[in-house]
Amino acid sequence: MKAVVLKDKRKFEIEDISEPISQNGSVIVSVKKSGICGSDIHYWEAGSPKGLVIGHEYSGTVVNPGSRKDLKVGDRVTALPISPCGNCHACLTGNFQYCHQTWTYATGLSLDSPGSMAYELSVRPDMVIKLPDEISDEEGAMVEPTAVGLHAIHLANIKVGEKVLIIGGGIIGLVCAMFAKKEGASFVALSETNPERGKKAIELQVADKWYDAKNEKLVDKVLEDTVDGYDLVIDCSGSSSAVTSALISAKPGGTVILVGVSMEPITIPSVVGVMRELTIKGAIAYTKEEFQTCIDLMAKKKIDVLRFLSKIVGLSDVQSSYEELTSGISDSIKILVDPNK
Ligand SMILES: NC(=O)c1ccc[n+]([C@@H]2O[C@H](COP(=O)([O-])OP(=O)(O)OC[C@H]3O[C@@H](n4cnc5c(N)ncnc54)[C@H](O)[C@@H]3O)[C@@H](O)[C@H]2O)c1
Ligand SMILES: [Zn+2]
Ligand SMILES: [Zn+2]
Repeated sequence: MKAVVLKDKRKFEIEDISEPISQNGSVIVSVKKSGICGSDIHYWEAGSPKGLVIGHEYSGTVVNPGSRKDLKVGDRVTALPISPCGNCHACLTGNFQYCHQTWTYATGLSLDSPGSMAYELSVRPDMVIKLPDEISDEEGAMVEPTAVGLHAIHLANIKVGEKVLIIGGGIIGLVCAMFAKKEGASFVALSETNPERGKKAIELQVADKWYDAKNEKLVDKVLEDTVDGYDLVIDCSGSSSAVTSALISAKPGGTVILVGVSMEPITIPSVVGVMRELTIKGAIAYTKEEFQTCIDLMAKKKIDVLRFLSKIVGLSDVQSSYEELTSGISDSIKILVDPNK
């Protein structure tokens, strides 16, 4: 069957790989829709690990239910891409997102577990979640990034009326902005290096104002709309320099949540955090409950994530879609891939 395989820096190729077979009770899923994520872009830019079948956000139908007696062929499902060990302290205390094994064997992020940019994939049975009829395949593929945003917002403990700054207007930033408004934020600002995405966030009514992150006076501009800074700043950009502006933009006693992933060091004197008693929290993934909550919110039409869907392409367009998403001038937010297109 055809699959999108990482070959080198910024280079995917479509290859024929063997069809997955059910092992250790795994569920075989036929992919309906599969999302391109900012984290996948980091792997693509690094070109590593070579041979990776990418894709960890997806919806599909059950081809073989494996050990899941409650599932039958044709059931519509999505799944958590993570693979916690179940035995360590983190897993036993319900925080499997901290488990050392969670990412090592994650679907579409490790060589051990080929991802969803293919016709079919094999999924750990306990991670598969049934989708209700009210949810489309497109929404099903967007549960995972939505849950990332919900987790960050839960960690932020927003109070009604607070001012929030989101840095980076990809799907993660926009979902955080959407939930911040739902939680009662009175003003949600966005800083973006890509003007098309900045404008799009306003059009989609998730942000009240956007700022050009390339402006040398960015922090001064961003602070003009506050008295002494933002109650909450969430970095969703994956840029270390943005973390510096995040810390400067938070008000004394404010909170900074780090969601974006970067390997570059952050260069800011610690006194900036010390003197203003900032709370700095990392946010990684989600809990199983948060994942399920996002499905429920979509099914009850309490949140609209389809507005973030820009287009649906076939497997042969994956390479050009990554190029588009990293061009810095495209207004596309979430691109989904339909292997049968
Ligand atoms: N912590 C987690 O659990 C988790 C989960 C999913 C994704 N992520 C990470 O979150 C980040 C965002 O994911 P995404 O899917 O939205 O990615 P994305 O690439 O679509 O969005 C990132 C956005 O940040 C913008 N940006 C880059 N540098 C900036 C800067 N200095 N200032 C302002 N904006 C800037 C880019 O133009 C882009 O629009 C990525 O780093 C991804 O790896 C983390
Ligand atoms: Zn993702
Ligand atoms: Zn564990």
